[in-house]
Amino acid sequence: MQRIVYFFFLIVFISACTSTSKTGSSSVPIDPYQYKTVKKTISSNGAVVSAHSLASKTGVEILKQGGNAVDAAIATQLALAVVYPNAGNLGGGGFMVARLSSGELISLDFREKAPASAHRDMYLEADGTPRTDKSQDGHLSVGVPGTVAGIFAEYKYAKLPIAKLIQPAIDLAEKGFAITENEAASLNALQTDLKKLNTVMPVFVKDKWKAGDTLVQKDLAQTLIRIRDKGAAGFYEGETARLIVEEMKRGHGMITLEDLKNYDVKKRSPHVFTYKGYTIAGMPMPSSGGLLLNQMMKMIEDKNIGAMGFHSVQAVQLMTEVERRAYADRAEYMGDADFYKVPVEKLRSDSYLQNRMKTWDPNKATPSTAIEPGVLMAKESEETTHLSVIDKEGNAVSITTTLNDSYGSRTVVGGAGFILNDEMDDFSIKPGVPNMYGAVGGEANAIAPGKRMLSSMTPTIVLKDNKPYIVVGTPGGTTIPTQVFQTLVNILEFNMTTEDAVYKPKFHHQWLPDEIMVEKAFPEDVRNALEKMGYTIRQRGAIGRTETIRVLPDGRFEAVADKRGEDAAEGW
Ligand code: DON
Repeated sequence: MQRIVYFFFLIVFISACTSTSKTGSSSVPIDPYQYKTVKKTISSNGAVVSAHSLASKTGVEILKQGGNAVDAAIATQLALAVVYPNAGNLGGGGFMVARLSSGELISLDFREKAPASAHRDMYLEADGTPRTDKSQDGHLSVGVPGTVAGIFAEYKYAKLPIAKLIQPAIDLAEKGFAITENEAASLNALQTDLKKLNTVMPVFVKDKWKAGDTLVQKDLAQTLIRIRDKGAAGFYEGETARLIVEEMKRGHGMITLEDLKNYDVKKRSPHVFTYKGYTIAGMPMPSSGGLLLNQMMKMIEDKNIGAMGFHSVQAVQLMTEVERRAYADRAEYMGDADFYKVPVEKLRSDSYLQNRMKTWDPNKATPSTAIEPGVLMAKESEETTHLSVIDKEGNAVSITTTLNDSYGSRTVVGGAGFILNDEMDDFSIKPGVPNMYGAVGGEANAIAPGKRMLSSMTPTIVLKDNKPYIVVGTPGGTTIPTQVFQTLVNILEFNMTTEDAVYKPKFHHQWLPDEIMVEKAFPEDVRNALEKMGYTIRQRGAIGRTETIRVLPDGRFEAVADKRGEDAAEGW
């Protein structure tokens, strides 16, 4: 008898497995237990690149079902909130830059906001000692999340019913997906923090994760269902809001029902500039990304960098000096322009940028102390996520979203299953005190109630003859703008293939600390030559995970996912 029962269950189990492996989740035909990560595709109807194969596949399925690039981006973003919990999110925020088929360029700001009770010195002890532990982890580090409001703002440009775009994420959360070896390692590394920082133990807590384990997120599925059924109110009001506020009370955080209700997305004019005939659209304040990219590109525009050659000592030296100067301005002048007057026009003007380059000496390093004082260290823990999408109708979407560092505050909302950001650390908690990326700031980026913290996220679209040419972006904290800068220079100036432009070793300078960070494979001879010129070089881990789509001369879409992670391209 026992054997018969066992046999019966075995049959049920096998048929369950085979039926899911044929259709995967019910809403899109994807197998979440067995899938292959593709790094490059060339396609004619549309393409999606994101940090996770299941998310990119979801986006392409939505294109196949008649969605446009915005539909696909929404579905991809939501799928990432399930399959890429390090950075994909409901509890964080981000930015979208899009070029619509009408030709209109738009940007959406769904960056987190400081809660109403936040104040300038909230991370300082009475004697002024900064408490970065509190701005970087746990309940007090959480800004009011903007992602869900952002999704509904994006949805104004979409075509399909919203339920269709959310359902794949619900299925992935409800039925689970098989995690990879890297994902298992990343969850295992998180266990101590998860136990320390949570009031209700989340599903991520387990003795040992291993490759192939299924991650099921029932609470997250219920939150997604509330969002599907009630719209943004399914997150900012009712049950989800109640769960967030209860979580805040248990963990002594600040977010209230009022904060959630008052969250607003801003539709902003993208930061647009031209470079040698290309039009480049990026994110305006509160992201420094668009302006920094503008400053860096314009500071090299008249220097004939193409002739210097990729990874030549001259080119790397020039780009480093340009990066240094732009980032010095970031620290001093940039912040949420709704709260602080950021002199954008002055900082991007030709005369200002030419003047900035007067101190450039092609033969030696300009010490950062000659521009502004201070010597600071950066922490390397970076997790944000970028997705690029394009369709045949002429829509191109570039979205970067974040929880800030990996798994954000590491705090999961009890009963709601999503991780909250630790974005408050992107404010300058005290003038001169570096945040987790080593970035410093002052008045422009000081904390104030309702203010948005300064970001480096750089979702970008390059237009050629007014049509989408490159859709690009990356995670990487303060390294984001320099990675987008280098990827674009590699393509536009060094005529590199998209893969080379993304994969070849990158470098980064951010004014302070005064050093060039380089990836391991960065050429030794260039390093040595730069050291002789007075540069300090520091080798570090991978820089960025750049997701790029480029439109080929014949109109097809080339999508390239960064090899630095498990990122995946899918095309149709
Ligand atoms: O908004 C910002 O600039 C940061 N919170 C982004 C963090 C990030 O990119 C981490 N990722 N790798």
